[in-house]
Amino acid sequence: MHLVHTAAELRGMLDGERGVAFVPTMGNLHTGHLELVRLAAGAGRPVVSSIFVNPLQFGAGEDFGRYPRTLEADCRQLKAAGCDIVFAPDVAEMYPEPQTVRVVPPLADELCGAFRPGHFEGVATVVLKLFNMVRPRYAVFGKKDYQQLFILRTLTRQLNLPIDILAGETVRAADGLALSSRNGYLSAAERAEAPRLHAVLSAIVGAIAGGGRDYGALESAARDALQEHGWRVDYVSVRAQATLLPPRDGEDRLVVLAAAHLGGTRLIDNLEVASQ
Ligand code: PAJ
Repeated sequence: MHLVHTAAELRGMLDGERGVAFVPTMGNLHTGHLELVRLAAGAGRPVVSSIFVNPLQFGAGEDFGRYPRTLEADCRQLKAAGCDIVFAPDVAEMYPEPQTVRVVPPLADELCGAFRPGHFEGVATVVLKLFNMVRPRYAVFGKKDYQQLFILRTLTRQLNLPIDILAGETVRAADGLALSSRNGYLSAAERAEAPRLHAVLSAIVGAIAGGGRDYGALESAARDALQEHGWRVDYVSVRAQATLLPPRDGEDRLVVLAAAHLGGTRLIDNLEVASQ
């Protein structure tokens, strides 16, 4: 496995390489990321993974400065998972001049976007730049960040990028907590409480599977359950998988999404609801 830090080195190494599968990350890798790499490497595809903590997608007062940076350990894990090239640019390599051209994706102000202004603009912009540097045939993203996946699929389709987007299932701890680099911020007591986010989403999925259709009531019950245990809830929302907008009457492919703060840590999660 090769580690490169500049787009020029990367291009030199990929010269003529077709069929590359690309897994963008911000590093501090866990099994969720590594499953995406394994999915990318399937069918013998050459795999490039990027590690870049993207300042453009962090708001003022968010965790850009303290986001864990663990390049050496990440490289060891990527090698074992079947990655061929790690692209780890620094900020000056990605943004040699002020990034005045920005991609404004759809749904940028919905769900997480309503609470993190500019976040999805930052994500869409850096991913498009990375796509142009890596020129992959496939790109792999996790369902853990469901809105991000939706936005990047839409961007790829609407801009006719010649890339197939593959989605990896959310990898969870045994108690249901979705793996996340931000779980490392949790105290022991918060870590013990954290699986409640998945539990309230599961309860909504169960209620819908049992015929429940008052989504507003299900959302408020979930908010209350979290708030009672000290969470500060950004949103709990039942949405249509096809649009990520509130479901129309009779719409049956749904997804339940939530974001909430436990102490100083913001956690997100979601569950798809099987068609009824
Ligand atoms: P990061 O949070 O490092 O996540 C990188 C990829 O791993 C994303 O596609 C994310 O959905 C996936 N992922 C994270 N946790 C997962 C889990 N528990 N199970 C499955 N997949 C999981 O998402 C980003 O970085 C950035 O926004 C990025 C796309 C790299 C742009 O900067």
